[in-house]
Amino acid sequence: MSEPKTTSSGADTPVVHLMRGGVSVVFSCRSGLVPQIAYWGAALRCEDTDSLVALVDGGVEAFTGNAPDQPSTAGVVPLPGDGWTGRPGLSGWREGGIDWSARFTLEQVKVQEAAVRFILADASAGLQLNLSYDLSPEGLLAARAELTNTGSVPYFLEELGVTFPVPLSADEILNRTGRWGRERVEQRQKVALGCNLKEGRHGRTGFDAPDMTFVGRSGFNFREGQVWGLHTAFSGNHRTWVEKLPSGVQVLGASELLLPGEIILQPGQSYQSPVFYALHADYLDQAANRVHQWLRSRPTHPRSPRPVTLNVWEAVYFDHRLPKLQQLADVAAEIGIERYVLDDGWFKGRRDDHAGLGDWFVDEEVWPHGLAPLADYVHGLGMQFGLWFEPEMVNEDSDLARAHPQWLMSARGAESDALPVRWRNQQVLNIAIEPAREYLAERVVSLVKQYNIDYIKWDHNRDLIEAGDQSAAGQAAVHRQTLAFYRLLDQIKEQCPGLEIESCSSGGGRIDLQVLQHTDRVWVSDCIDPVERQSIVRSLSQLLPPELMGTHVASPHSHTTGRWSNMASRGATALWGHMGVEWDLTGADPEELRQLGQWIAFHKLHRAFLHSGTLVRPISPDRTIWVSGVVSPDKNEALFQVVTRERGALAVAGKFTFAGLGQAKKYLVRPVFVGQQPSGLQAPKWFGAPAAATELETGGYEGITLTGEALMQAGLSVPPMHPEQVLLLHLQAKG
Ligand code: GLA
Repeated sequence: MSEPKTTSSGADTPVVHLMRGGVSVVFSCRSGLVPQIAYWGAALRCEDTDSLVALVDGGVEAFTGNAPDQPSTAGVVPLPGDGWTGRPGLSGWREGGIDWSARFTLEQVKVQEAAVRFILADASAGLQLNLSYDLSPEGLLAARAELTNTGSVPYFLEELGVTFPVPLSADEILNRTGRWGRERVEQRQKVALGCNLKEGRHGRTGFDAPDMTFVGRSGFNFREGQVWGLHTAFSGNHRTWVEKLPSGVQVLGASELLLPGEIILQPGQSYQSPVFYALHADYLDQAANRVHQWLRSRPTHPRSPRPVTLNVWEAVYFDHRLPKLQQLADVAAEIGIERYVLDDGWFKGRRDDHAGLGDWFVDEEVWPHGLAPLADYVHGLGMQFGLWFEPEMVNEDSDLARAHPQWLMSARGAESDALPVRWRNQQVLNIAIEPAREYLAERVVSLVKQYNIDYIKWDHNRDLIEAGDQSAAGQAAVHRQTLAFYRLLDQIKEQCPGLEIESCSSGGGRIDLQVLQHTDRVWVSDCIDPVERQSIVRSLSQLLPPELMGTHVASPHSHTTGRWSNMASRGATALWGHMGVEWDLTGADPEELRQLGQWIAFHKLHRAFLHSGTLVRPISPDRTIWVSGVVSPDKNEALFQVVTRERGALAVAGKFTFAGLGQAKKYLVRPVFVGQQPSGLQAPKWFGAPAAATELETGGYEGITLTGEALMQAGLSVPPMHPEQVLLLHLQAKG
């Protein structure tokens, strides 16, 4: 990664240029108002004052008819006071309807390394605005805004967001939507004049969160076309927009979505926005790898080999019986599983999903000797022990709800007909109430210590609806709840060093870059069907590297979709993340267990580079085929998968190419079978002779040797297979 370069052009013509990781951001402060971004894109060698000033001048628009009499001064927080008639970056007011239109003047600019802070004030409106931008070595720009009420009466904040200008040539939007069991559906739209606004009002990140909203020139893809992206690192409500105005300006914007009355700033109080991550890249794969590398550079990023996990949910659901759970542990240990997770159903009164949430005490009827007989057993087999919690949730049928009805979130009171609509029979506990949060911290920490719990699956199975604070007359409290959630996680982690936590929310309902500052992996989806998982993981990879995504092998018959899948496709699909199993292994036959054991061993052999390498998603030759892979950091090894999505019109879908390899390196490309070979596979000539089975591989073919250049330019003929199959290719550089 490149060294940071920061250029500031001096007090009279203040232009600040941050350059790092192949990206440049040029701020112009010449208006003396909210700074403007004069350029955000690929790194520019524009370091002297004259060039910087010329760069800014070059972008000043000409006067057109019936428009403000001076060029627009709207900045990164665009304001009506600066002549902006689009979506404002700041909305708020004081009693009597005053101070609703702020006009800030720039008081201070502090530049340090690849970071800049702007301090602005509007003395007459009684507001101070601080803006900070940090450009990471990977080219990820973290932006944050903070508003302080310097006046003498309360200020009602409605919205504080930031915007980033993007070129008009970026005429297509790519973001994600989704639902339970089918998260991260990609959608593309044309940028039209007006505002394309996406809101998340779920009180969690949401199945339909945009992840990162990208714009680029129509047709941009994993390997081609510059992109500009924006992500809101927040697990509550959020807004993201792409706005194109008739004046010829186009911006990407984001904010926290504040509910009515949620933020009332008393004199001297401040509101801090979430961190917004802005990312420019030459193409989507580069964007993905920038975020992956940034995540990996964090001191808190998991560094130990990711333990292959068994989660017992789809094996036993609420039917907790020690002998069966121990038997599952035996089988798991035998086939190489390293972490065992007991899911929902272990705590007081929790026989199904109607009762018990909130009562985080081991159920004495089901577990008369506590969890020790299982936890110790699992540890004795050399595996880690994990436990499921859903701390922020409460069933009305629980001792906790009966004892503290005012701890339930509600906009109107604690009576049953005043509570928010039930969702999975549950309500939300207001964890911003300190005794409620302390109760949870105490319960979790003492159970972790008592049973030497290594890992928590932290669930969150409903949206926050009418999420008010009863102790404040029902005031909306999603913002406070979200911050309290982060605080609770940190509090627990501080007291339980080494504890790992998974962010689960009915699958992938709470996945964002902020929740990952407090947790160690995410549960990608409750749908473990490999066909669906191929899509979900391909899409989520845009934000997260493999080691942070829980990818499991389920039973042959998917509990979510009813589809049957063979082990070749289930194993090859789970391989690409933090691998695990979620299947009643006591019912699996010996051949299935042998194959699963082989997949686990194969994953362990390759996980070091799968969890540190570069993601590549080459352009598919045909929409029925997907190719993707991970290349080791030194480019000497790679694993790719060829996936047949459906039967297409072509008998052979032409040639597929690789990407991300060393041009001049020579690679042996070997088709590898683990457990069994993909169904319906027809070997093309380049497969060569069949290869003998080894301990880790059931066989495959000798393969072909070609240079990286030839593999990336000329490619190889697509091997025909039945639909919904996955073929693995192992690449090893020779010599
Ligand atoms: C959610 C999770 C599942 C499982 C159940 C338990 O749906 O996503 O994996 O833990 O809760 O109730």
